[in-house]
Amino acid sequence: MQPNNAQGWWKYGVVYHIYPASFKDSNNDGIGDIPGIIKKLDYLTDLGVDAIWLSPVYASPMADCGYDIADYKSIDEQFGTMDDFKELLDKAHKRGIHIIMDLVLNHTSELHPWFLQSQSSKNNQKRDWYIWMPPKDGIEGRTPNNWRTYFGKKAWHYDHKTKEYYCHSFFREQPDLNWRNPEVKEAMFDIIRYWLDIGIDGFRLDVINLLYKDVELKNNEYCLFGKSKIHNRNQPEIYELLRDLRKLLDSYSGKASIGEIYVMPPGDPALVASFLGSGADMLHLALDFSLAYTLWKASSYYKTIAKYYQEIPENGWPCFFLSNHDIGRSVKRLFWERNKYAKAKLRAVLLLTLKGTPFIYYGDEIGMENVPIPKKQIRDLYGKLLYPFVSGRDRARTPMQWNDKPHAGFSKQTPWLPVSKHYPAINVKKDGAFVLSTYKTLLALRKNHTALHKGDIVFLNEGENNILAYSRKYEQEEFIVLLNFSGWGKKYATPFDNAEILFSTHGTVQFCTPTTLRAFEGVIIKRQRRCGISEMDACEAS
Ligand code: GLC
Repeated sequence: MQPNNAQGWWKYGVVYHIYPASFKDSNNDGIGDIPGIIKKLDYLTDLGVDAIWLSPVYASPMADCGYDIADYKSIDEQFGTMDDFKELLDKAHKRGIHIIMDLVLNHTSELHPWFLQSQSSKNNQKRDWYIWMPPKDGIEGRTPNNWRTYFGKKAWHYDHKTKEYYCHSFFREQPDLNWRNPEVKEAMFDIIRYWLDIGIDGFRLDVINLLYKDVELKNNEYCLFGKSKIHNRNQPEIYELLRDLRKLLDSYSGKASIGEIYVMPPGDPALVASFLGSGADMLHLALDFSLAYTLWKASSYYKTIAKYYQEIPENGWPCFFLSNHDIGRSVKRLFWERNKYAKAKLRAVLLLTLKGTPFIYYGDEIGMENVPIPKKQIRDLYGKLLYPFVSGRDRARTPMQWNDKPHAGFSKQTPWLPVSKHYPAINVKKDGAFVLSTYKTLLALRKNHTALHKGDIVFLNEGENNILAYSRKYEQEEFIVLLNFSGWGKKYATPFDNAEILFSTHGTVQFCTPTTLRAFEGVIIKRQRRCGISEMDACEAS
């Protein structure tokens, strides 16, 4: 069964990002799995989300926790079986929840049969499916160019058997595909069709801006000021590919593509938005990192959001996220940060009332925060390679905290990563900091009021340091959202003389103007329209 709102779900719905290894362990092996997710569908229905994005569950040697795929058409046994996956799809659809698969197109696992063939000899038919180059000037030890991986190491690995280097943007276990070879595109489009035919609703496309590299594999030129010339990403050919991909998706009904446009802080909304094309011919949504990189200040948030909106094409649609499995959680992003739960609630109001599709990272809705991982327990290769300078990404991938029982109710076994020490209070059952109840109320408000998911947005106090204020309006319905980023009470003169405070992060309060917002308070105010439309206009004019 397909969910009802076939077309607009990716625009007006809320996406919940699950890191499968850490959501719910059903077979008590310490690792989360698909049957575990099925068990928690009632929770997700109750929370009120419209779609689940699953980080990769394909067969994988797990060098990069599943972002190294060895077989794109099967499910890794640590997560379950294809039947489990189909059961999840069916049960989620029955609840009106869409399923988005994570798809890694830039690279495969080094154990993927394509790469094994490619590596076997220079003459192999699949040699050119990956990016192979002889050593520079024929001297062993000299990499073909100066490209670096996203983890800081050289982006070339020498293969002693065939005496050439292959390119890898991430770990050496993840060789980059050569998208200039049309057979690669054909094979990947076949995989995309395979999953769409199974009935999934869309893809989150991993590091989609990396697929094409400069034809001549030119050295990157870095400069301190001005714009560096970077040749291993953002090449023009990607736009053509996205057009073809969109056509493929549009030949089905209600499918969506969500691209991860990986950029370093402070983000690059213009680049991100460029992958939406006209808004109707490339990606459906493009994930922009800027909001997650923004520092705690109303004016900074305003600048980031306004800039992103400005770049979104007329027919395009924005989307927002605060946390993910790479950059970490937004709750207490800086270790000295205080008032973490008050801020988490304020961020929740922002995420769920902005114009654009919100992405909630599992556990953010209960106030989970980054967990320090002792060296011995580090699982992320990135942390293993760069410890102690970088401890890796495990801190935001720890088990979901379901209750105050051992292992937070995630598993009966010791989980693959440690559980946060905060779990006795910060869990779904207890909701010790009331973050979950805040999320639930906001999700319900967003769903029940068209203006809050579909309405236009207008900023009311651009560049103010303490309060971020904006309105959401759709036909006759209008709301004002006020967010006090300051640790002090602040006044704000609401431009409605007849209104109701629909929601406050601090509990309900009577409306009065000017509104006094308490420290870190977020409110949603609804304009009451007692008079008819023409009278209303008159009221506004007076
Ligand atoms: C993306 C994923 C990240 C992974 C990388 C390589 O950025 O989010 O977890 O390591 O791509 O696939």
